[in-house]
Amino acid sequence: MIKKISIDELEPGMEVVKLSSEMWEHLPHLYAEPGIIESGEQVARLKAEGYRQVFVQMKDENRGLTDEQRLDQLISNREAAPAHKERAPFPQAMKATRVTYESAMSCAMRIVNDAKLGRKMDYQAAVDTASAIVDCAIRNPDTLVCLSKLSEFDDYTYTHSINVAAIAVVFGEYIGMTREELVDLGMAGMMHDLGKTSVDQNIVNKPAKLTPEEFAEMRKHPAYGFVLLKSNPDIPSKVLEAVRLHHEKYNGSGYPSGLTRREIPAFARIICLADIYDALTSNRCYRDAILPNKALGIMYGMREQEFDPLEIQLFIKCLGIFPSGSLVQLNTGDYAVVRESNPGKPLSPKIRVILNKTMHPIRARDVNLADGVKSGDTELEIIECADPGVYKKSLINYMTAN
Ligand SMILES: [Fe+2]
Repeated sequence: MIKKISIDELEPGMEVVKLSSEMWEHLPHLYAEPGIIESGEQVARLKAEGYRQVFVQMKDENRGLTDEQRLDQLISNREAAPAHKERAPFPQAMKATRVTYESAMSCAMRIVNDAKLGRKMDYQAAVDTASAIVDCAIRNPDTLVCLSKLSEFDDYTYTHSINVAAIAVVFGEYIGMTREELVDLGMAGMMHDLGKTSVDQNIVNKPAKLTPEEFAEMRKHPAYGFVLLKSNPDIPSKVLEAVRLHHEKYNGSGYPSGLTRREIPAFARIICLADIYDALTSNRCYRDAILPNKALGIMYGMREQEFDPLEIQLFIKCLGIFPSGSLVQLNTGDYAVVRESNPGKPLSPKIRVILNKTMHPIRARDVNLADGVKSGDTELEIIECADPGVYKKSLINYMTAN
């Protein structure tokens, strides 16, 4: 990164750069001879000559770090200082995310169909889709968390790939990844199960326990995905590695290589978190969806087996104890949908109360539980997550209405 600094901040070892833009040439007393500052005497001489400012190439903190060291650094920084970020208002952001989700779903369908037909993937369309998902996460990440649970697309294959991209990007944004990293992470999410197109679809969609032979075939899908994608020189190696290694586990019991802990690439670890969260909270042909807070509890129980303990803790903090899109029951008996999490107060999100205790619709009202809102003498609290059942389809409308 290039930064303009005062000559008083200039130190030996810094690299002075000359910008190609001429707009700075009028700047008074700008020292612009490119090169490394060699000594304190040189700095003193420049000051004496009347120079006041200089453009320098700042040392890139990320340079020289492996992806795994970078992830560790982001995670420990996030633990130390949770950043508060300004977000776009939920209803407006939700409308934009809904549009993105719909086009992302079409893109996912095209990617899968192209793979099945042996056609070359439209790489730029995939990058544009990942980039649009990143925009949504920056605008308001809760909208993606919400839509990943409430979107109305039924086909698990496409929905899952977009949900994993969305959840992974939300987590990456939470820990402070750069935009470029987030787009690659989104790509990895979209592509992670592409290899399932090379597995017999009777095995992929079998609504019963797989035989050992079928299971062995199913376990080849990361390698199949890697083979499908590696011929495309545009796809970054970290995306390919995430596809190939997203079923590795922290304790070494995963596949295909039985890698452990830091041996597993950073992107693969994040995709694994998003993949398992979405799989647990989705309806599958062999079982019903698990409620989001229960799924996070199950995942927490898998720490040190499937996941790095610190990473799963941070993942839960990122999504909140009651993730956006959850139906919850209050201590009054009424039901509400969770709209936005309150950073730092995971038990007290912003909610919209929509159903009475007999689950009949009531006039919607917004409550920020962090404000300590009372009903009579009792402060409102969430008691538990509830199964939205027949209301699932209509919850989305409560989320987009102002
Ligand atoms: Fe997979």
